Amino acid sequence: MSSVATSEAETAFPIPANVFAETVTAVKHYTDRLFSFRMTRPQSFRFRSGEFVMIGLPNAEKPVYRAYSIASPAWDEELEFFSIKVPGGPLTEHLQKIKVGDTVLMRKKPTGTLVHDALLPGKRLFLFSTGTGIAPFASVIRDPETYEKFDQVILTQTCRENAELNYGRELVENTRNDELMSEFVGDKLMFHASATREGETRGHRVTTLIENGKLFTDLGIEPLNPETDRAMICGSMAMLREIEGLLQARGFEEGANNKPGTYVVERAFVD
Ligand code: A2P
Repeated sequence: MSSVATSEAETAFPIPANVFAETVTAVKHYTDRLFSFRMTRPQSFRFRSGEFVMIGLPNAEKPVYRAYSIASPAWDEELEFFSIKVPGGPLTEHLQKIKVGDTVLMRKKPTGTLVHDALLPGKRLFLFSTGTGIAPFASVIRDPETYEKFDQVILTQTCRENAELNYGRELVENTRNDELMSEFVGDKLMFHASATREGETRGHRVTTLIENGKLFTDLGIEPLNPETDRAMICGSMAMLREIEGLLQARGFEEGANNKPGTYVVERAFVD
């Protein structure tokens, strides 16, 4: 079994000081570019939904760490992550091969801007993502506080291919049906998914859909309004810039932990 198949790398390199060494409990591959995994959560580890941590593997004297959004909510006993597989990537090349029972390293301090504290109160919360940018929102939409603070939560994800949207589809379905969450979520959670390189939604980037208004007509909701709406953005640098431009043109202002605003962006993952 994989639980006893401790890799040679692990025995060759000691666990660095001041990091958590956690055990993988589940791995799920969605496509040849995307996978998710779950691991044990240290008793003392606290975070706010939407934050990220630095993740590494015990496969070198000085492990390579990368910023990963925690996809699980703060109440979950385990930690979940949603990852891309970069061919030849210093971390993901190895991380994509992890199995149940393997060890993953995690630095101790979570941080990030995609948190409720960085947003002013509002009525609707828009969560705009491309690709694995959905990860922090997987945490936010499973946090009861989100539904205490907002009347409507609109999650959008743009991916290249249809199969890449499956993590988000499962997430939304499971959240709506979850015994604990369904009471908070009710009918407040909306999901708009588009694959830009195939099928009916070919070419439908969320930016295009905001500009031509199709996002709002598809969902049957009012267009963006800074008086009532708040937004969080997570995706590629190009996508962040474009959505920020669209929001600023409509009167939205960026917030931070020490100065809440009407939208927030996570820039930790950009290439
Ligand atoms: P497209 O297929 O038109 O490039 P990537 O894997 O390159 O990060 O892209 C993930 C998704 O984000 C793709 O659907 C891609 O669309 C879309 N995308 C890329 N750039 C932008 C942008 N500037 N604004 C909105 N969506 C974008």
